[in-house]
Amino acid sequence: MADIEKKPVKIVETVLRDAHQSLLATRMTTEQMLPIVGKMDQVGYYAVECWGGATFDSCLRFLKEDPWMRLRKLRDGFKNTKLQMLFRGQNILGYNHYADDVVEYFVQKSIANGIDIIRIFDCLNDMRNLQTAVTACNKEKGHAQVALSYTLGDSYTLDYWKDIAKRIEDMGADSICIKDMAGLLTPYNADELVRALKESTKLPIDLHTHYTSGVASMTYLKAVEAGCDIIDTAMSPLALGTSQPATEVMVETFRGTPYDTGYDQNLLAEIASHFQPIRDEALKSGRLNPKVLGVDIKTLQYQVPGGMLSNLVSQLKEAGQEDKYLQVLEEVPRVRADFGEPPLVTPSSQIVGTQAVLNVISGERYKMVTKETKKILMGEFGQTVKPFNPEVQKKIIGDETPITCRPADLIAPQLPQFEKECAQWKQQDEDVLSYALFPSVAKEFFEYRAAQQTGVDSTLADKQNKTYPV
Ligand code: CO
Repeated sequence: MADIEKKPVKIVETVLRDAHQSLLATRMTTEQMLPIVGKMDQVGYYAVECWGGATFDSCLRFLKEDPWMRLRKLRDGFKNTKLQMLFRGQNILGYNHYADDVVEYFVQKSIANGIDIIRIFDCLNDMRNLQTAVTACNKEKGHAQVALSYTLGDSYTLDYWKDIAKRIEDMGADSICIKDMAGLLTPYNADELVRALKESTKLPIDLHTHYTSGVASMTYLKAVEAGCDIIDTAMSPLALGTSQPATEVMVETFRGTPYDTGYDQNLLAEIASHFQPIRDEALKSGRLNPKVLGVDIKTLQYQVPGGMLSNLVSQLKEAGQEDKYLQVLEEVPRVRADFGEPPLVTPSSQIVGTQAVLNVISGERYKMVTKETKKILMGEFGQTVKPFNPEVQKKIIGDETPITCRPADLIAPQLPQFEKECAQWKQQDEDVLSYALFPSVAKEFFEYRAAQQTGVDSTLADKQNKTYPV
């Protein structure tokens, strides 16, 4: 194939973020990561996704680790590899909208602490919710990758995605990600989608999918042949199931073709052997449920991401109504339609899922509603692709007038207030951002940290360790 143009596919390794978020409830500790970083740095990955998403919350809440410290340690270890994070637009890493000053400061500090690429998405694909983060990333000389939250439905035509891609390019992004959190993108549709996006944008295209429905590695193959530049994979011990296709498998698939990554399979095997005991241990402790490792065809049938399915099960368990699982699965698309057909990704997936559970267990649709359901129907998360069901909206918000502007336009600067509230615990500039996102969890962490440092209250430390098993 000497006469064929070489176009090695670039690989983003997700084992330090999405893979353990998908399979291990985001419980991998920094200590479990650091010993293998040196070897991972030699692979030649395009980037390692290692921060953001649920890792931040999990560090503070369950692991009693400072997420900023984790980032700095990873940065020290990865001398040659770009570090990537996942960022929920105006929600940052939380579940609500923040004022622009908080978003800008978070971007600034993420890059200052070692992040190279910020993948930014919005759960409604409302582009207005991405602009502040993208502009801040440009300003800090980071790589701004904007993700379109991939989903299915009448409104999501190729023309819709092409239009979004054009707008992503115009807003100053450096690359585009097709973020297929539920594993809905099938191989031939991926071929069609990548070709369509390539017509409308010159930006590099990264495809991110999950193995949940069983098609993911075929989807990558077709996407790469269609011109996709970057794929996201996970080292085999934490691949497949609700995680990504396996890195070693994709590397071998493209060997000897124009897409050959040239990665050393022996080096990958050494890295895999570091993660194997972590997998074994998680299987033994029950943290890794073998159920999520198989093919879940329901995800294609109901178009629900894997993580959301397990949330529905646990919510029903709590209510003692596990027998209603199928009814809830059928209610999800109806709620989604009432809410203007949003993609299902954090936080819209939780909002739609919880409401579907309430609609089923209360025996009457929208008899009980969450605060977030009301917010979404008030326009406080942004604009959906289709209008809301007017009857449902009326039932829930009554005579209140929904907003139509960018939600953050109505939020005054928040940093000065957060600074004031967390001043007593502050040990580094970044603490205010941890506090802004998760006030009560951060406060608990700050107190734990202080106790560790003085060694005064070791019983508190013991208690914390027991309350938050790793
Ligand atoms: Co993902």
